[in-house]
Amino acid sequence: MSNNLVTVAYIAASALFILSLGGLSNQETARKGNLFGIAGMAIAFIATALSSQVTEYTTLVAAIIPGAIIGAIMAARVAMTSMPELVAILHSFVGLAAVLVGLSNYLQPESTLVGVEATIHEIEIFIGVFIGAITFTGSIIAFGKLSGNIGSKPLLLPARHLLNLSMLGGSIFLGWQFMTGANGLQPLLIMTAIACVLGVHLVMAIGGADMPVVISMLNSYSGWAAAAAGFMLSNDLLIITGALVGSSGAILSYIMCNAMNRSFISVILGGFGEGSSSSASKGSQAPQGEATPTTVEETAELLSNAKTIVIVPGYGMAVAQAQHAVSDITKILRKRGKEVRFGIHPVAGRMPGHMNVLLAEANVPYDIVLEMDEINEDFPDTDVVLVIGANDTVNPSALDDPDSPIAGMPVMEVWKAENVVVMKRSLGIGYAGVDNPLFYMENNQMLFGDAKQNVSAILSKLSESSNAKSATTTEKVLVKA
Ligand code: TAP
Repeated sequence: MSNNLVTVAYIAASALFILSLGGLSNQETARKGNLFGIAGMAIAFIATALSSQVTEYTTLVAAIIPGAIIGAIMAARVAMTSMPELVAILHSFVGLAAVLVGLSNYLQPESTLVGVEATIHEIEIFIGVFIGAITFTGSIIAFGKLSGNIGSKPLLLPARHLLNLSMLGGSIFLGWQFMTGANGLQPLLIMTAIACVLGVHLVMAIGGADMPVVISMLNSYSGWAAAAAGFMLSNDLLIITGALVGSSGAILSYIMCNAMNRSFISVILGGFGEGSSSSASKGSQAPQGEATPTTVEETAELLSNAKTIVIVPGYGMAVAQAQHAVSDITKILRKRGKEVRFGIHPVAGRMPGHMNVLLAEANVPYDIVLEMDEINEDFPDTDVVLVIGANDTVNPSALDDPDSPIAGMPVMEVWKAENVVVMKRSLGIGYAGVDNPLFYMENNQMLFGDAKQNVSAILSKLSESSNAKSATTTEKVLVKA
């Protein structure tokens, strides 16, 4: 394929990636956005494979076929709730790729580059390997924490900021040696080792509840690592794609930081998450009082008598796979003339948009799915709030207990509604490991058990009463006739 054709294909792919990001920003257009992304990637892949730079097809095929098979199997098998782990481990591959591209570029330099161009190329290699190594090990630790293989408690070493700064300073010094010394390989390898340790240390210092932001930050890092690899390989498309991923990841991290009331800068510097350990032991008090249990029948009746209902789903709905039954309940209640809406916390579940994806899969209409900021002030006018498998995201201690590990995190203020029913299996803690005073409030009742079983049971109660109603109406009509 001629260079001009490759350039045209790259421009088309870049445009498709931008359209893809635009599409993914909205639930209604997300499917189309995905298709744009797939089309862009297919064009990029074919154009690169057919470009004059690629000459060794045996190696390419030997790498791509097993990679594609492993990727397809992993994607088909992964549970929705394990998506963040998969994303984390995939980020680590991007980081590792940037390191390997950098090292091989250094070992087999482009002989055509001289003077300033050669210097810029060396800077690209050094920075690319640095970001890639941090992304590689940081993502592995994030994977370990999300999969539970590594404890979610933050590792807070004494003088950790100083340690980070000295590793950064050491890397800059090695960069200078790399650029000016006769043997650049040694400082490059030492810096790679230091950056690997830095990646581990930055992510180890982050508490479990703050992991969503870390995943998104690592997503951003992986984008910059890919862009750096693009510079090293003089591949414009890789630079554009890397910059798109890098900047959108950074914007997403910023939005999530706001949603969790965390400081963006402290995330970048690491050591963030202090105090958000996985136990409620630190400072915050265990809630007092007794939780009021309720039954499926009572909950169905409460819903039948309500005019305005808000459903707040959380991680438990995803675990139980209750979304289809929830969607069916919504249909029945809406048919009966009730206002039913969904309130989605930005970090409900285990990944950004987790709840939106599940509700879309169950065909819940988009226009009744609202974000936290859109629905929070409506709770005082709501008759019943059904909390399905959510915990941290509906925890009032985030607002009124300054010692709580999640203090300051904006939450769904469900307790302001007239009645709240929380559906979960026990009074146990959620992801952040914090007790929840909502469970003990007077207007709250607990419907214990698996969310899917309970939602399905409520659904049959509501269907029974709907059938009974329509039977009575038919009888009345027959009697009149
Ligand atoms: P969580 O606070 O994690 O609570 C989920 C609750 O679901 C648990 O307390 C659990 O209680 C219940 N549950 C589990 N399985 C269930 C089942 N089969 N049926 C019914 N209930 C079940 O959920 P949340 O409110 O969605 O908050 C999300 C948390 O995850 C936040 O702390 C957030 O920071 C963190 N996080 C979010 C993300 C993103 S990006 N969304 C990524 C990583 C971490 P029982 O055991 O008593 O049933």
